[in-house]
Amino acid sequence: MLVRCLREEPPPAGASALDLGTGSGVLAIAAAQAGCGEVVAVDVSRRALLAVRLNARLNGVRVRALHGDLFAPVAGQRFDLIVSNPPYVPSPQAELPRRGLARAWEAGHDGRDVLDRICSQADAYLRPGGRLLLVHSALCGETATLSMLRERGLHAEVALRHQGELGPILRARAPWLHQQGLLAHPAERAEEMLVIKAERPAKPPSPHRDAVQEANRLRSCSLPSSPPLRLSF
Ligand SMILES: C[S@@+](CC[C@H](N)C(=O)[O-])C[C@H]1O[C@@H](n2cnc3c(N)ncnc32)[C@H](O)[C@@H]1O
Repeated sequence: MLVRCLREEPPPAGASALDLGTGSGVLAIAAAQAGCGEVVAVDVSRRALLAVRLNARLNGVRVRALHGDLFAPVAGQRFDLIVSNPPYVPSPQAELPRRGLARAWEAGHDGRDVLDRICSQADAYLRPGGRLLLVHSALCGETATLSMLRERGLHAEVALRHQGELGPILRARAPWLHQQGLLAHPAERAEEMLVIKAERPAKPPSPHRDAVQEANRLRSCSLPSSPPLRLSF
């Protein structure tokens, strides 16, 4: 789904991109193929980093693979594009696994442990005009994701929805998910997947610009012949 979004709305040529929780590197490689110039891929799993390096080479693209926890390896940097398919499966265990394959999906009781960290920090790592594309199940809360991103000044919306079948892990947890209020019915088998798009405005709102625009509006109301103020921002 996220690769489809990248292809339908490609980033500007030469854009910088960050893939959080890169796994095999599929999104990092898709970003490079979509025209990004500098692509950084981060994962907590060292095995994933070996995979992304190999897959990038096999696909003939350059990806810088960094080991670490979400944004930590790129502290202080900003990107034109951030993509992520993070762990989002709600779990009866509150603690996230420290090692092993389960790190790829386990995401705490409400499935939002990693999502919330991405939503609360993404704005600081986006350049003005930059874009975040984030995929998760609607089970973990579409509104929570959109609200967190909007509270931080990003223009957030659902870019793509897809109705599919619950995956095997969620299916096995269906009765527990129902008890938690995350699934309407214990026999529910459908799941909606979302791609959330959030853009950082190209220019922050400027009180000065707003005041001048208001002055021009008043001038054009009262003095139709007066020329508007000339401004550049
Ligand atoms: C669902 S997999 C996604 C893999 C790949 N991006 C894809 O779309 O197929 C999530 C990945 O996030 C990684 N991950 C989990 N927690 C992380 C964290 N705190 N920081 C960085 N990567 C993390 C996992 O190791 C796993 O590779």
